[in-house]
This record gives sequence, structure tokens and C-alpha cells, in this order.
Amino acid sequence: MRINNFEEYQQAYKKSVEDPEGFWGEIANEFVWKKPFDKVLEWNFEEPNVKWFLGGKLNITENCLDRHVENKPQQTAIIWEPNDPSDEAVSLTYKVLHERVCRFANVLKKHGIKKGDRVCIYMPMIPELVVSVLACARIGAIHSVVFGGFSAKSISDRINDSQCKMVITSDGAVRGTKSIPMKETVDDAIVTCPSVEKVIVATRTRTPVSMIKGRDYWWEDEIKKVSADCPAEEMDAEDPLFILYTSGSTGKPKGVVHTCGGYMVYTTYSFVNAFQYNPGEVYFCTADIGWITGHSYIAYGPLAAGAINVMFEGVPTYPDAGRFWDIVDKHKVNIFYTAPTAIRALMGNGLEYLEGKDLSSLKVLGTVGEPINEEAWQWYHKYIGKEKCPIVDTWWQTETGGFMITPLAHITKTKPSYATLPLPGIQPALMDENGNEIEGNDVSGNLCIKFPWPSIIRTTWGDHERCKQVYFSSYPGKYFTGDGCLRDEDGYYRITGRVDDVINVSGHRIGTAEVEDALNMHLGVVESAVVGFPHDIKGQGIYAYMIMDKPVEDGEMLKKDILATVTRIIGPIAKPDHILFVNGLPKTRSGKIMRRILRKIAEGDVSNLGDTSTLLDPAVVDEIKAKVGLA
Ligand code: WT7
Repeated sequence: MRINNFEEYQQAYKKSVEDPEGFWGEIANEFVWKKPFDKVLEWNFEEPNVKWFLGGKLNITENCLDRHVENKPQQTAIIWEPNDPSDEAVSLTYKVLHERVCRFANVLKKHGIKKGDRVCIYMPMIPELVVSVLACARIGAIHSVVFGGFSAKSISDRINDSQCKMVITSDGAVRGTKSIPMKETVDDAIVTCPSVEKVIVATRTRTPVSMIKGRDYWWEDEIKKVSADCPAEEMDAEDPLFILYTSGSTGKPKGVVHTCGGYMVYTTYSFVNAFQYNPGEVYFCTADIGWITGHSYIAYGPLAAGAINVMFEGVPTYPDAGRFWDIVDKHKVNIFYTAPTAIRALMGNGLEYLEGKDLSSLKVLGTVGEPINEEAWQWYHKYIGKEKCPIVDTWWQTETGGFMITPLAHITKTKPSYATLPLPGIQPALMDENGNEIEGNDVSGNLCIKFPWPSIIRTTWGDHERCKQVYFSSYPGKYFTGDGCLRDEDGYYRITGRVDDVINVSGHRIGTAEVEDALNMHLGVVESAVVGFPHDIKGQGIYAYMIMDKPVEDGEMLKKDILATVTRIIGPIAKPDHILFVNGLPKTRSGKIMRRILRKIAEGDVSNLGDTSTLLDPAVVDEIKAKVGLA
């Protein structure tokens, strides 16, 4: 599975296109299967219907745990670095992790969880989170991890959408100087979730929490009542492994479904190759397991590859902006993977936080989540990588399950702000506005993928039609990513950002419609329109134009109230950075909001608003311009 030089990459790529079944079949055979697959691939992008490794039976946890326990039981699987640097880090060997997963899997079983049941996990970055995820996979329960920053309402929407029977949470969480309630938020959420029968609560902060008899159970009590022996459930390659909700252009977040076999093969393959992971190396991904990055490149990929995985509970700026570098030095991290927003934030804190940091253990740096600007790239390269570590700019999505376009560390020549070249198996296509593929180099268009890869989204939970509409209908026969992209004269790819109504705030995907729905719930709001705008640290910020039912008097207080509503409905990550109260919104005669104009105004660029002749009432644009002082 391992590619060792550029020539091998080219050969692998060629083979993956000419003989995809032969290519992936060989790689898949390097894993532990309970029953070998009969056929590698069956697909069409019309329904869509994609199946990999048909007839194969497996359990991903045997690949992430059991096989390493056999070969290297004493190797560290996870080094958990707590929020407070003066607390001790915790190392879990593969053997210990295996035992904890099996034990907790038995707890799940004891509480009635069976193969195919959905389990919601709402937890901070503590070892119990990884244990919960893998314990679900062990018994074939489908986990739905909800990021710890989401509100009670967001949790309940997700629980209800997939009818989770159980929630796993903790009493509280600590992030930096903040102590955050978790169980309390779950309690609020499940008031409206009749499907939830049981709640398991791990202790972290030991803050007082309500515990309801017959429904709520302490993790630490339950694990004492069960054995540490739990055979892995036999799963079909195409059985769902997990659901992860993500935002789109319209409507509520949708549950992206990944399945067992293809996801395992692809996350492992992409991890090993993009980072050129060597046995014994220490890998540190700063993402939260509540997002796809944490699923694919903390929980599953690295563990399947037998890696040493650093898991960090805290934030990059606590106790100060040198924390990541302290962790790198403390645990001798070789591969460091973070988001451009974190790099920009740390860059802004100045070089003094790098004083006294060694960083000589680093060999490879990675980024993910949003386009990385050249300045951040250069800073990362110079001050963190000391100009000797390649920057692996990994472009991918929740729906792709794993890296799609990325350099291979030390193999692909990097170029600032370019994700460079597709991994073997990935066939990108740039599309023009008429739906035709644009051939050749030095071109740009909308990015599609024209052939399936093993970890492609299979469906959106409970609504296959939505999956088809969102991803497979804009360009029939192709998967549409929602991103704009250019291919330069060398055939290198550079992602330019979303072309739909999705905003990327600090690498988190937020749908404008979702924020508008939350804003519209606030007392007195008549209508709102949300757009993204360039933000120095976050990449994009959220700009909200709002019409109220009466003239606004105490605008500052009202804004705070509105932010409180958004926090309650979605969570703090969806709070607008700017709110502008307006009397009207630019709309076409058919009533469609012209976001293009609102985006320009939010960017502070009104020199060329384009064609406004189709506007219902062009005067609203002048009013808005005057309000922001741009008239
Ligand atoms: C969207 C997917 C994939 C894990 C984190 C985000 C943007 C992601 C890059 C990159 C430019 C990137 C895209 C994509 N994106 N990585 N390296 N360069 N843009 O996952 O929440 O599913 O968001 O993030 O716009 O479509 P996600």
C-alpha cells in the first residue's frame, strides 16, 4: 500500500484509473477480513449506488486494535494530553485500548444496544470519546458523534433524525480556562428525544449533574459490571459504520453515512501515504473527533495503521499561544496536522511563543479545512517546519471520508496554497457553467469527481433522494464537491473555496440557510440574509443582514440577544461576526435574494456590484451601502 517515490505514485495513479478493481482489491487484501470479498466494486452515480468490497465481512476494530495487539501489544496507541499542562498525560497501549473498548462495548450491549442501533456521542476530547466510537464499531452500532460545541437543539435535531437509542456524554468539559457543561446540555436536548432510552456519563469535571434513575448511568460504575472480552461483530463491508451531520446550502444538516469496508481501506491508505507514516512515529492531529478529520485521522485511519496518536483535550492558546509547540516537544511529535485558522491565530500572537521551542522532532506538517493563504503557509513552513518539513495541504470533505487531493510528504513537490495532486483512485474533473468538463491545464471550474473511491458518501441518513440531489444531480454522472478549483500549468490543483451557500468559518462548515433560520426565530425578526466575508483569522466570517418589525432602538443590546438566540439554536460557532439592520434586501423580481450583492458589500467592495437591473427595488442597495458608509 505504501508509495515510496514519485514514480511509484505515477504508476499507482495510472493503475488506479486503468484497473480500479485490481488496484483497490490488492490494497484491501492487506487488511483483516472475517470473510474475503467476492467483488471489488459495483456502482452508478445516477441513483447513486456505490458498493465496495461486496460480500466481504469484517470488523474495523479488529483492524484498529486486535491485529496490533497481536503484533505489538505494548506499543502506544494514544497519548492523551490534558487541557492543563501540569496534569499528567496518559498513554494507552494498543492492548489497554483494546481492553477498554471491549469492556465498554459490553456496557453498550448490556444496555440493549445492538448492531444497527444508532448511538449519539457528545463528549469532550477525552480518551472515553475514542473508546465510545470504537466500542460502537465493535458491536456494529452506528455512532453519530455531535461536536461538543453544538447546542442542545442541534443535538436533539440530530438524535431525532437518526433515532438514537442512547447518548454517551460526560459531566462537563474543560477547554482553556473554561468549564463547559455537557450532561446538562444533553438533558436539555433529550427532553424532545423520545427515542433515547439510556444515557451513559463519563466523569471529567465532576461537576454536579442530574442523574435520572433507570435512564442515566455512570461510565465508571458500568464498566466494572462487565467483562473485558467482547468478540467483534461480523459486519458486511457495506453496513453503515457511522453517521456524521454536516451543513449544506439548504435545510438542516444532513447525516452523511459511511460504511465499514471502504472507509477502513481508504482512511488507512490515505493516512499512510499522504503523511508517509513510518512505524514508531508520533502523529498529532489537533482536530476534534466531532468533525470528520477526527473520525478519519484520529480515530480510525491512524489506529488502523498502528500509529502513535496524540489526542489533545485543550485549545491552542492555553495556557499560552505556545501550547501546540510545547506538546510537539514534550511528545516528540513527528507529524503535525492542523487547520489554517489555527496557524493564522498563532502567527498573529507573534514569534515570542516560539522562543525556546525545539521542534526538531517534526518531519511532516499538514493542514486541512480551508484554503491556506500564502502568508500562513510561509510562516508555517519557515517557523514551524524550519524549511525542512513538507506541508501536506489535504483537500477533502466529510462526504469524501478521506484525503482526495494532497501532496505525499517528501514525494510530491509542494506549492504554497496548492493541494497539488489527486491521490491514486481519485479522478477530478473541472466543470464549466454549461456542465462540460474542462480539459487541459491552466483552467478553473467547479470541482467534480468522476469515479468512485472506497470512502465516498453512500447516502444521507433517512433521505437518499437528498444525497442524489445535493451531490449527484448538478453534473449528472459525477459527484459534485461544492468547491471551486483551478488547475495550473503543471496540472496542480488549488481549491479556491465553496461555490455554494456554505460558509467556512475556522474550517467549520456552516450553511447560510441554517443561520438564517436561527436568526428568523428571534423575536421581531422579519427576514434575514447571511453571507460569508473574508476574515483574517477565521478564513471567513458570518455577515447577517436583518430586517426587524420595528425601528431598532438599542441596536447593541438587540445584537447580543440575537447572538444568544443563535447560540441556543445552533451553537457559538454559528454566531454572526456582523449584524446590519436594514429595511430591505436586494431581491430579484421572483423574490430570490441576490447574495452576490450582499457578499460584495460585506467584503467592503462596492465598486462593481455587477448587474443590478433585475432587482425588484434597486433603492435597497443604496440604503445598505449608505448604512455601511460605502455610498
Ligand atoms: C470543505 C469540507 C475535510 C476535513 C475538514 C473540513 C474546505 C477542506 C481544504 C483544503 C481548501 C479545503 C472545502 C471543502 N476544505 N480542506 N485543504 N483546502 N479547502 O470538512 O466540514 O466537510 O468541509 O472544506 O471547501 O468542501 P468539511
